[in-house]
Amino acid sequence: MATVIVVGAQWGDEGKGKLVDVLTEKADIVARYQGGHNAGHTVVINDEKYILHLIPSGILHKNTVCIIGNGVVVEPAALISEITGLAKRGIKVSDNLLISRNAHLIMPYHIALDNAGEKSRGKKCIGTTGRGIGPTYVDKMARSGIRVGDLLYPDAFKEKLKTNLKHINFLMKNLYGTRSFSAQKIFTEYSGYAEILKKHIADTDLVINTAAAAGKNLLLEGAQGTFLDIDHGTYPYVTSSSSVAGGACTGLGIGPTKISKVLGVVKAYTTRVGSGPFPTELNDSVGEAIRAKGGEFGSTTGRPRRCGWLDTVILRHAAMVNGFSGLAITKLDILDGLDKIKICTAYRFRGKLYKDYPKDLEILENCTPVYEEVKGWNTSTIGIREFRKLPAEARSYIKRIEELVGVKAHIISTGQKRNELIKIRDQF
Ligand code: IMP
Repeated sequence: MATVIVVGAQWGDEGKGKLVDVLTEKADIVARYQGGHNAGHTVVINDEKYILHLIPSGILHKNTVCIIGNGVVVEPAALISEITGLAKRGIKVSDNLLISRNAHLIMPYHIALDNAGEKSRGKKCIGTTGRGIGPTYVDKMARSGIRVGDLLYPDAFKEKLKTNLKHINFLMKNLYGTRSFSAQKIFTEYSGYAEILKKHIADTDLVINTAAAAGKNLLLEGAQGTFLDIDHGTYPYVTSSSSVAGGACTGLGIGPTKISKVLGVVKAYTTRVGSGPFPTELNDSVGEAIRAKGGEFGSTTGRPRRCGWLDTVILRHAAMVNGFSGLAITKLDILDGLDKIKICTAYRFRGKLYKDYPKDLEILENCTPVYEEVKGWNTSTIGIREFRKLPAEARSYIKRIEELVGVKAHIISTGQKRNELIKIRDQF
């Protein structure tokens, strides 16, 4: 029995979807603890590609219960379209999907506020996914949010909606000069969603803790990554939730004493979508080649991802704030064929060397990365399933990452497919 948290160690898109899918083989429950449909988890099974935004990728396994936790923000139309999309492809989504009644609902005005806010920030925009994530968490913290459980009480739902719209419509009209929202229209729309979703609404904290007490295996799935975390990321260029391991406890209602392992997912290089500092970014042909070969385009928005060398300054910090017990290194095969590979070991800023992650935006935006150069390998690693079968240079690269980050690699992913994986240590 174990409870394992899977967390992104960089700026998201580390390949968590595939790992969660693989680890689910031994999991009884898979639970998402934060974020919303801003996430995009890609899983490839027998050449079929599935992109999941809200539903944990565990849904692709028959006997697993999937949970959308209280820390998640839910856009009901997006969730329903994901459910129907899966059903059309023969994936069962019924009592195997539970949604916390405490999860907050993304409302149409949150999406409008997100986009209006971005527009008004101009050049300093965050580059959000435009899904209404930030404004929904704002309402949650302001205690004016509407929760999934409210869908079950139409009168109270309508009352809350009317109260919120007084304020929202004032803002829309007077600050952003855009359209206002009709309470009746939203109410009718959301009543329809309530009908479809009500059978999934549950006390998910109870379900999780009962399962843990019964000795079941739980997999807690983070979205985005450590440096998009609201507290530990490159603020303000972050998302609005707690994507670090600690977020799993608050986002699901499970105590820290119940957590057995924290698996940090590290892409063999670094990518970022949206604005914000990225010290090892490559604005050259190497960066472009990595983007093309790695298919580095957002699975939610289709935006090209910014690409760069592996940065172990951020990884050491991620290992610390998450308490990684092991690493899963993904997309190693994308580096196949490179003559030389660079690893960032520190930053230099105004003559000073920074080995520990500097939190000041001023430093992160203007520092120069200090690189160590290692030899690349010229044979393919795609589909290799044993560590000893990797080219010697690829093994050295992995070993060097372990040394610099101070955490051992437990899994290495060598391709998109389920079985393209080196398992060094079991998580359950
Ligand atoms: P938001 O989460 O839509 O508010 O966007 C805030 C920042 O997080 C932007 O830079 C987005 O590009 C980034 N972001 C949000 N979700 C993901 C994700 O799943 N992968 C990578 N970046 C993301």
